[in-house]
Amino acid sequence: MCGIVGYTGDKQAADILMEGLGKLEYRGYDSAGIAVFSGDGIRVEKAKGRLSNLEERLKKNGKPVGTVGIGHTRWATHGEPSDANSHPHSHGRVTLVHNGIIENYLSLKQSMESMGNTFSSETDTEVVAHLIDYYYSGDPADAIIRAVGRVEGSYALGVMFEDIPDKLFAVRKDSPLIVGVGEGENFIASDVPAILSHTRRYYLIDQQELAVLTKERVTLYDFSGNDITAEKELMTADWDVEAAEKGGYPHFMLKEIHEQPQTLERAIQPHFVNGLGGILKEEIPDTSGIRRLVIVACGSAMNAGLLGKCAIERLARVPVDVCIASEFRYANPILGEGDVVVVISQSGETADSLAALRLAKGKGIPVYAIVNVVGSSIAREADHTVYIWAGPEIAVATTKAFTSQVAVLYTLALRLALDRGTVSAERAEEIAKEMKRLPELVAKTLTDEKIALYQRLASLNRGKHDFFIIGRGQDYAVGCEGSMKIKEVSYLHCESYAAGELKHGTISLITEGVPCLAIATDRSLVEKTVSNIKEVKARGGQVVLVCPEGMAQGQDFYDYAIELPQTEDLLMPIVAIVPIQTYAYYTAVYRGCDVDKPRNLAKSVTVE
Ligand code: BG6
Repeated sequence: MCGIVGYTGDKQAADILMEGLGKLEYRGYDSAGIAVFSGDGIRVEKAKGRLSNLEERLKKNGKPVGTVGIGHTRWATHGEPSDANSHPHSHGRVTLVHNGIIENYLSLKQSMESMGNTFSSETDTEVVAHLIDYYYSGDPADAIIRAVGRVEGSYALGVMFEDIPDKLFAVRKDSPLIVGVGEGENFIASDVPAILSHTRRYYLIDQQELAVLTKERVTLYDFSGNDITAEKELMTADWDVEAAEKGGYPHFMLKEIHEQPQTLERAIQPHFVNGLGGILKEEIPDTSGIRRLVIVACGSAMNAGLLGKCAIERLARVPVDVCIASEFRYANPILGEGDVVVVISQSGETADSLAALRLAKGKGIPVYAIVNVVGSSIAREADHTVYIWAGPEIAVATTKAFTSQVAVLYTLALRLALDRGTVSAERAEEIAKEMKRLPELVAKTLTDEKIALYQRLASLNRGKHDFFIIGRGQDYAVGCEGSMKIKEVSYLHCESYAAGELKHGTISLITEGVPCLAIATDRSLVEKTVSNIKEVKARGGQVVLVCPEGMAQGQDFYDYAIELPQTEDLLMPIVAIVPIQTYAYYTAVYRGCDVDKPRNLAKSVTVE
């Protein structure tokens, strides 16, 4: 996620901005820049890569001297990481920084180009600088309000005008932005950590509100121009800096679990803006030649692939093989005409997955990639890349990236089914409608009441050593990811088992009190799964049933139940995995584990 900092006061802005950007590095970024009112204009310095690259540039060119400025760390969305695509962006008298995604930037860009404007970057952000400059005829607030009125999507904007050297302007919709209030100095920032060493007092800017900052005062306006400062609560940050970087959560993993309603929105929504006809059309223009998909990935990304297989085979009747990348790359895989390799990777840098991609390309096989990090190696080397837009994922154990990978795979399943006519338009509409409800349904699994249930169930795991998760079909795949979570963060040995297979050997391990999570979201298989659950219960297993609301009522084949909001069976894995992630998180916390940095693990294994 991008980071924004702004300063107006008596100190050198460049120092304050660089310090603030350093506090926002945790948000993940691939380039950075600052703009400072210096001499008789706005001086911009920006560089691809880490903040140290920008430091170097400032050393080489000399730091801009001035006391008003804005800074930005960029998490690339539109346009590869590069100097030109870094923020701040300028046009005419306007210089600005942006966090968010301008969904209609292409049409806005085309209309600006038709008026003779030329662009110096591939970003969506630069379009806003053009728009504000277009509307600016002396009234900066009016120009900003009119410009953002034409913008669809999310934004947090820090704006400077060349002919107003003592003021900063800030406005937001959906992306975070706060206004820090100091003594003789004021700030804007994406998050509290950036300003905490200067002030703990801040305003939250709400939608349809504009903040105007000078060093002496902060004024907040509504979009009708009314001064609403007196109505706004001046907040006080009581976080310590470390806590603040987690947005107040005790761990990044929990923060990222709770981000999933928003990240699923970003993974799903853009594919349906042009109805069913536009699904993945930009990323994957033609699927007609596909006879088989070979999904290749590691870890949780591979588990996402298992769920993708369930959905694609069920909806589109396209055969899907799912391969562990480290196996695939040495198996001399049999690939041929009509095969497409799909590489799934959050980081886009996992060595085994990258090697698998290169092996497939070496055999002339088309490669699709489903990736989070924009401009990463896998994203760049694949023939077609679909980004999941989950933002930087800091916790080693993936959560939000996993559910967004699965959401994109479901979108691909729907696209393939439509292209093959294996679903009717009505059926596809039904599924699409339910897909768009997933953020809301996942939010329902994260209410305080539900969290308390997961905490209670997790506390039962304190003295346990072995743990089982059983399910059939898609529920088995959910179990694979659930067991990965439990192992990764709580160090409990956990095995995911196809429910029907348990009796062929492993059930010998089920004795009194052995915990067993039973997942039963696919109603077409529930009868069979229940018989397997009863086999576990009969041997003393402690069963936690994960199922749709209502299924558990009046039944006695389980000890505890996690009931889920209901949607299409096909989509239930995304709803089911979030409680299991949270359950794993609290199990780890109660076992005193280092949740965000589990022993022996790396966020991305870029070596073999
Ligand atoms: C592991 C991570 O190292 O790599 C897992 O700990 C991840 O969380 C796996 O699923 C694959 O990583 P990536 O970045 O290719 O999805």
